[in-house]
Amino acid sequence: MSDRQPIIAIDGPAGAGKSTVARQVATQLGLVYLDTGAMYRAVTWLVLQQGIAIDDDCAIAELANKCKIELTPSQDIKFPVRVWINDTDVTQAIRSIEVTSQVSAIAAQAAVRQALVKQQQNWGKRGGLVAEGRDIGTHVFPDAEVKIFLTASVGERARRRQQDFKTQGQPEVSLEQLEKDIAERDWKDSTRKVSPLKKAVDAIELQTDGLSISEVTSKIVDYYQQRLSQW
Ligand code: DC
Repeated sequence: MSDRQPIIAIDGPAGAGKSTVARQVATQLGLVYLDTGAMYRAVTWLVLQQGIAIDDDCAIAELANKCKIELTPSQDIKFPVRVWINDTDVTQAIRSIEVTSQVSAIAAQAAVRQALVKQQQNWGKRGGLVAEGRDIGTHVFPDAEVKIFLTASVGERARRRQQDFKTQGQPEVSLEQLEKDIAERDWKDSTRKVSPLKKAVDAIELQTDGLSISEVTSKIVDYYQQRLSQW
């Protein structure tokens, strides 16, 4: 075994519970939590804030290569990770409906992915991470020791998103609208040309309908420990 500490890669569609579960797994195992979706959201926020057109690939590529993104732990239970871009705290702003509706288009741009993946791989050089996203097990950390593909039905994911919005103090959105948005984002994330959302061949799939966050967390921690005993 190398000196690198293990990496747990958690991928899956929007609203499958990846963030909460990944954070709890990281806390229980003493690993660092990396929310890669927050990075794509932060770039999207900056694009919108600077009034750059969503299809201006060149300007967006330049922005993604030059911006400074930082993720820092916080005691705030609503937002346990603070997200900064170019020293501006965008923790709350990146969860807005506007950013959410545009982020898939930004995340589909090859230059944006290249810039952010490079940064993620730099952070992951020494391991010790629980990283969640769409391409972690397939592309960012293909050698991750543990790979999980977290799923849930569209209805269940819409209900969870509605609850998240409530907790975060965001305006209420109907379940019907959320289901439509989630299905559309699934389609965009899974059919894009660059690093589409897909299960890594060596990932285990965890269907989470009807399971609580702590049940899902325990399943992953148990699987990790079982794998650890085999190394
Ligand atoms: O997990 P999330 O909803 O915060 O992700 C926001 C968007 O970013 C989502 O549409 C997919 C994209 N994303 C991605 O393409 N690759 C990642 N590793 C993480 C997120």
